[in-house]
Amino acid sequence: MGDYDRRTEDVGNVQLLEHVNLTVPDQGLAALFYVTGLGFTRDPYIDFGTFNMWVNAGEQQFHLPKAKAQIFRGHIAIVLPDLDDLKKRFKFIAKPMADTLFAWEERDDYIAVTCPWGNQIRAYGAGKFSNMDLGIPYIDMQVPPDTTPGIARFYEQVMGCSVVYEEAKVRVQMGYNQELIFSETDEAIADYDGHHIAVYVSNFSGPHKYLAERQLISEESDQHQYRFQYIVDPQTGTILTELEHEVRSMSHAMRGRPLVNRNPAVNFFTYKKGNERFSTA
Ligand SMILES: [Fe+2]
Repeated sequence: MGDYDRRTEDVGNVQLLEHVNLTVPDQGLAALFYVTGLGFTRDPYIDFGTFNMWVNAGEQQFHLPKAKAQIFRGHIAIVLPDLDDLKKRFKFIAKPMADTLFAWEERDDYIAVTCPWGNQIRAYGAGKFSNMDLGIPYIDMQVPPDTTPGIARFYEQVMGCSVVYEEAKVRVQMGYNQELIFSETDEAIADYDGHHIAVYVSNFSGPHKYLAERQLISEESDQHQYRFQYIVDPQTGTILTELEHEVRSMSHAMRGRPLVNRNPAVNFFTYKKGNERFSTA
């Protein structure tokens, strides 16, 4: 009984888009931007030195190893509890960011942010997306004209995802509250520079079989992980775009690892006992 749309609860093969990996040339600046500025939390347990940094964003992460800057070709959306607090933090980091590409601008329902090396980030406030008040709700990648029908076929037929096709855009469902979006553009797209994403899938062997038969596995990492980089049209075999996917099985040791998330509004002046942890309440 009841008037419920049960279909909105369905989840395709990808259970989680867990991290976006972007190399950064300066760990100090990266900490200032991702932790002090955006308000995320440095993972206290893994890669806490000066050559890599994992930054927790709700149930997602940014992985930021030290190397020449990588730039995602499109934009990465994030959700934060409060955009007014974000603006205060950005004013705080403006001076040390002066010699970088860091910039931000208020738009209708988000703040458009440029990271110190040029990555485009859209910061939305809590309430914009269902089931997420802190994290990475979607990433939107630019692709050449006429590629999205084939990309939709790849994610539907090879990866086993639910996809929604719109005009020149395909939204691939990731878990219960995320999307990987591909948007066609007539503008020039930069060459692929090796940044990657990590996803957890319930059907691990199915995509692997398809990709391995076509020599599309770029790394056999271990029992619980492989990588691929080319997104091909299953109808023609044509390579449509490149984005390295770190594909992990549900038994991967990192799956479901509890991520420490602080309350981004807490600082020396606003601290009260017990308010340091992020809470959806
Ligand atoms: Fe990774």
